[in-house]
Amino acid sequence: MQTEFCKQLGVEVPIFAFTHCRDVVVEVSKAGGIGVLGAVGFSHAQLKEELDWIDEHIGDHIYGVDTAIPQKYEGQGETDPDKLVEMLKAAIPEQHREFANKLLADHGVPEWPEQDDEVTLSFSEAQAQVLVDEALTRPKCRMIVNALGTPPAAIVEQVHQSGRLIGALAGRLKHGINHKNAGLDFIVCQGSEGGGHAGEVTSIILWPQMVDAVAPLPVLAAGGIGNGRQIMAAMSMGVQGVWLGSRWLNSSEAHAEPAQRESYMKATSEDTVRSRSFTGKTARMLKNEWTEAWERDDTPDPLPMPLQGYLSFDAQRRTHRYAGVGDCQKVAFNPVGQIVGEINEIESCRDIMMRLMTEYSEAYDRLHAINPE
Ligand SMILES: Cc1cc2nc3c(=O)[nH]c(=O)nc-3n(C[C@H](O)[C@H](O)[C@H](O)COP(=O)(O)O)c2cc1C
Repeated sequence: MQTEFCKQLGVEVPIFAFTHCRDVVVEVSKAGGIGVLGAVGFSHAQLKEELDWIDEHIGDHIYGVDTAIPQKYEGQGETDPDKLVEMLKAAIPEQHREFANKLLADHGVPEWPEQDDEVTLSFSEAQAQVLVDEALTRPKCRMIVNALGTPPAAIVEQVHQSGRLIGALAGRLKHGINHKNAGLDFIVCQGSEGGGHAGEVTSIILWPQMVDAVAPLPVLAAGGIGNGRQIMAAMSMGVQGVWLGSRWLNSSEAHAEPAQRESYMKATSEDTVRSRSFTGKTARMLKNEWTEAWERDDTPDPLPMPLQGYLSFDAQRRTHRYAGVGDCQKVAFNPVGQIVGEINEIESCRDIMMRLMTEYSEAYDRLHAINPE
């Protein structure tokens, strides 16, 4: 299964695991793939702590770090991260705050216990720069990936100067072409069925179009991959690897409360929706009373990114911490793709990796049997 891109990175298996959990990063990298830590929710100090732990546990394997610098966002141009956060928090209308707080209260979601009001959401260049600087001090971190836009030229240059690769997610063809023109080393092409921020075009349409549009740049296929048959399909379209996010959410190493795991296990592939209600940009997540409430005509419209993210940050952390309390799951933030319909048990990352590879070779054999020549 090793591709040219794997060889360039020095890994065995072209399976990339996007995750916010350090244990998943370590387990996937140790199983031959590459774990990529999503850093958007970490302060500088928190990221440092996570990377210290990863460096200590990952052995000789490598990993990546993922940032989120949108192409356009409120407060763009402010270079002081603290000032930016103050400005954004102050810009949230009271009507929106009241609506969000009432939704949580009506569903019995307990208040956040500490007085600590730190909001760690790095949806800007100023905040991401600090995270990139930290990641680049780590020899085992071999790639930086950016979500939601082409990374700024200075960051591309900085990552290249450090001898590492930089890529970015693209949910539309024109975004992939912009990434290529900006000198990125690879594209993560995510179709609409994927979890988190996702565009409108489905993977089976978008992947081959992207492969052709950015050739010879390597493309990693994302969105809707949960088993080895889907990996086989993606590889047959000319991608150099696959990038999975939802699959790890219920792995035994992922950090999740039992009630959240249960929501993922109960859901079918029809239970997700693309909604702006948590971050301000369309992201795929489990449909519930929170996502529906923000859609109604008589309720406030979601704010643009990153204001909606700051507004909903309290909802995100409270619904995760108190996942099993009251009707919390009815308003919980549960981002996931349509493959959620296949997430029916808790497996270790190593078992998931083994299963993906076995299913891939079975699919390969099946195809070969159709036309042995
Ligand atoms: C819970 C969750 C959070 C995500 N957060 C991010 C993120 O912060 N940065 C990013 O680049 N992608 C993020 N994504 C998207 C993943 O990187 C990946 O492209 C996507 O999950 C692939 O589709 P799949 O969910 O069908 O595997 C997230 C996905 C999920 C499920």
